[in-house]
Formats: sequence, C-alpha cells, structure tokens
Amino acid sequence: MEILHDIPALRQALAKRERIAFVPTMGNLHAGHHALMRAARQYADTVVASVFINRLQFGPAEDFERYPRTLDTDSAQLRAAGVDVLFAPAEASLYPEPQTCFVEPPDLQHLLEGAHRPGHFRGVATVVLKLFNCVRPQIALFGKKDYQQLMLIRAMTRQLALPIEIVGIDTVRAPDGLALSSRNGYLSPEEREEAPFLWQTLCALRQRLLEDGAARHGILEQEAVRALDARGWETDYVAIRRRTDLLPPEGEGAALVILAAARLGKTRLIDNLEV
Ligand code: PAF
Repeated sequence: MEILHDIPALRQALAKRERIAFVPTMGNLHAGHHALMRAARQYADTVVASVFINRLQFGPAEDFERYPRTLDTDSAQLRAAGVDVLFAPAEASLYPEPQTCFVEPPDLQHLLEGAHRPGHFRGVATVVLKLFNCVRPQIALFGKKDYQQLMLIRAMTRQLALPIEIVGIDTVRAPDGLALSSRNGYLSPEEREEAPFLWQTLCALRQRLLEDGAARHGILEQEAVRALDARGWETDYVAIRRRTDLLPPEGEGAALVILAAARLGKTRLIDNLEV
C-alpha cells in the first residue's frame, strides 16, 4: 500500500489507474470502515482510502481537537484490508490557504443533523468534493449510518454532474445492536452498556409503526424521546421521515426512515432505521 500525504504525489500515483473505488474516512477505523473497504474491492481494481479529519465540518463547540488521531493503526488496518493507496494529507496540503470557497448543499442540509450542527454539511460537501477532485474515482462508498450525509453527497454528485457512482453500505453493528462509530470510543464502560438503547428505541418505534399505520407520528416520536431522556440521554431528535427527502410524510404510502441523535454523557450518537 502506498501512503501519500500531498495532492501532486497522489495524482502521480493514480495517473495510470483505470477504475478507482474511493472510501473517504476521518480515521480511527473500525469494522464499519472495513466493510466499506471490502465492498470497494468488488467495484474496482484500485481501492483508495483517505484519512483526513476535516476541521470545516466541526462546529466551534464540537470535538475536532479531541477526535482520535490514529494514523499508524489506521494504515496497518488499511494495508491488511488490501487497500492500494492511502491518501492522508496534512491540513496544509488540503487547505493551503483559508477555505473561502464552499459547496452549498441543498436545503436538506438544514434539517435534523444540520439543525443541530449548523454548517456541518457544508464542511462535509466541500471536503468530499475536494477529495473527489484529488482522487478522481469512478465509485465512492459511504456508510448508511450517516444517512443524511449520504443523501446530500448523492444530491451534490447528481446536481454537479460528477461522473462518480455513489454507493451506500449498510451500518455495521456490535452484537448488542450499537452502530459502530469512531465516537463510541468516548463512552465510559457504563455508557457503553447503555448505548444500544438508542438502537432498541428505533426498533421499538418501527414496531409501533408497523402495528398501527395510523398512529400519529408526532406522538410516537415524543414517546421515544421520553424513553431516552428517562434513562439519562439528552435527545436532539427522533424523527420519522420520508426516505426521499427527509421531510415529514404527508398521508400514507411513503417509504420511511426513522432517524435519531442523542447524547450520552459527552458523547453524541446517531442512528437510523428504514421502515
Ligand atoms: O463520514 C465521514 O467520516 C466524514 O464526514 C467524511 C465523509 C470522511 C468527510 O470528512
């Protein structure tokens, strides 16, 4: 595996590669990332991963500074996973001057995660476009755990006519249901025991929806929030939305997804479940 830290070296290394599958990450890799790398191999002869902790997508009170930086173990894992090229740019290489030019994603950026993390998706879209321009992949793979992120990247790719196929890969879960996430490492042992309750809440809500299609969504959402808060979570949202645009469904028949974000101690977890 080649490890490259700047854009000219990356471009040179990839110049003759014909079909590239790309997995962007912020490092601190886990089995969810490994699944993305394995899937990438099915799409292309060359698999490129990036590790870059993107300051632009963190709010001022968020965890940019304490986000785990684990490049040595990440690169060992990527090598073992058969990745061909790791792009791990220094911040000064990807942002050699202050970034004043941004990708402004569609209005979907302001809902749910966007409402709680203003500017987050603008930062994500900007870095993802920039990474796409560096790597120039034919395929890019993203985890479905970041459901709204995946939708926005699909919209950006479509609307800016980028010649890249975006592939979403199912969330990988621990045996107790907790969605794997780099942020799980922040949880204390007691919090880690409690953490699967977010997934259990989504499953219970889906069950209620399936049993009673006419149930008022607002009431079900509030019940779920109360259940979480009663156990010490601070819930940002539990929302039943249309899969097509993440807006509240009007009438019946729309394909739905339930999305949630809640804080356990200092750790903010997100998850989702398609109905
Ligand atoms: O999902 C992530 O890890 C990040 O948001 C991404 C897509 C690598 C952009 O920094």
